[in-house]
Amino acid sequence: MAGGASSWKPATVVLHKPINKNKQTDRGPLILGCRGMLGRACLQAFGPDASGCGRGDFDIADRAGVLAHLSRLSPGLIVNCAAATDVDRCELDHGYADTANAVGASHVAEAAAILGARLVHISTDFVFGGREGRPYRETDEPSPLNYYGLSKLKGERAVLAALPSALVVRASWLYGDGPGHFPARVLSWASERSEIRMAADQFGSPTFAEDLARGIRALVATGVQGVFHLAGSGCASRYDVAWETLALAKLNVTVVPVSASEFPSPAPRPANTCLDCTKAAGLGVDLPPWRDGLARYLRTSGIS
Ligand SMILES: NC(=O)c1ccc[n+]([C@@H]2O[C@H](COP(=O)([O-])OP(=O)(O)OC[C@H]3O[C@@H](n4cnc5c(N)ncnc54)[C@H](OP(=O)(O)O)[C@@H]3O)[C@@H](O)[C@H]2O)c1
Repeated sequence: MAGGASSWKPATVVLHKPINKNKQTDRGPLILGCRGMLGRACLQAFGPDASGCGRGDFDIADRAGVLAHLSRLSPGLIVNCAAATDVDRCELDHGYADTANAVGASHVAEAAAILGARLVHISTDFVFGGREGRPYRETDEPSPLNYYGLSKLKGERAVLAALPSALVVRASWLYGDGPGHFPARVLSWASERSEIRMAADQFGSPTFAEDLARGIRALVATGVQGVFHLAGSGCASRYDVAWETLALAKLNVTVVPVSASEFPSPAPRPANTCLDCTKAAGLGVDLPPWRDGLARYLRTSGIS
């Protein structure tokens, strides 16, 4: 076996610019949720002019704090990656979900509108219920299956009501630098077992956070507004992603395809939230195939 999961360590994150709480005016991009997985990737992708704020700088649920901080920083562009992303906790604690995903999102949009800043708001494939037999388009009606998806949908609507020129980017099944995402968990399970059971009836569009961040930047450069889907191209089941991860990592672990019903969780997961990204592709913004993204992620993390 090569590249054992137990030796895996997340890559070091290099922030292009330290977060400067005393900065007076900066018309460059400001990344909110900059210590999260996508936030870190966006800081890299938007380059040396970008700066970031995390929860330690201000809580997006605090309206006065959001308005005060964003007025002082005066960004030309805000990319809001801050969100409550623990799907099961959202199901059990609606306040946790709504505070960041709906109320917090609306505060950021309100501040952007007041400041005349452009806003990119990140949303999710989980706004869809998963019963469609094909990838979801932007014109499909959302019908979230769990509270995380509902809170993110409330956020999308609040953002577009406060700032109709906002760009809302729906992402899917992210992985990248850091722990906790699905390929990292597969590697962790594989380090403990010779066989793992994976849902073969739950589909999404696996996306390398670095690819998404570059795609968001490219989409911003086109000047578009409204809702866009952006994800690794293609569609995969949890079983497919686990199998590919272990094959690329050259780990000799058997992956058994099973039904998602074997893994009950507080929040129900939609069966199919693959995203149709042809609207963005029509503007020349097209993310690489999911297998390609996964291979680059594992290579750059020193796993394969
Ligand atoms: N991960 C996925 O598979 C996936 C799939 C589709 C869409 N998305 C969307 O992509 C975006 C980024 O997700 P991610 O995976 O990068 O999430 P993440 O790693 O959990 O990062 C989210 C960040 O937001 C911060 N945050 C949470 N509540 C906040 C608040 N009230 N005020 C200020 N900051 C707050 C968190 O800070 P703390 O760590 O201090 O809480 C964290 O740093 C989210 O909008 C998510 O809904 C994610």
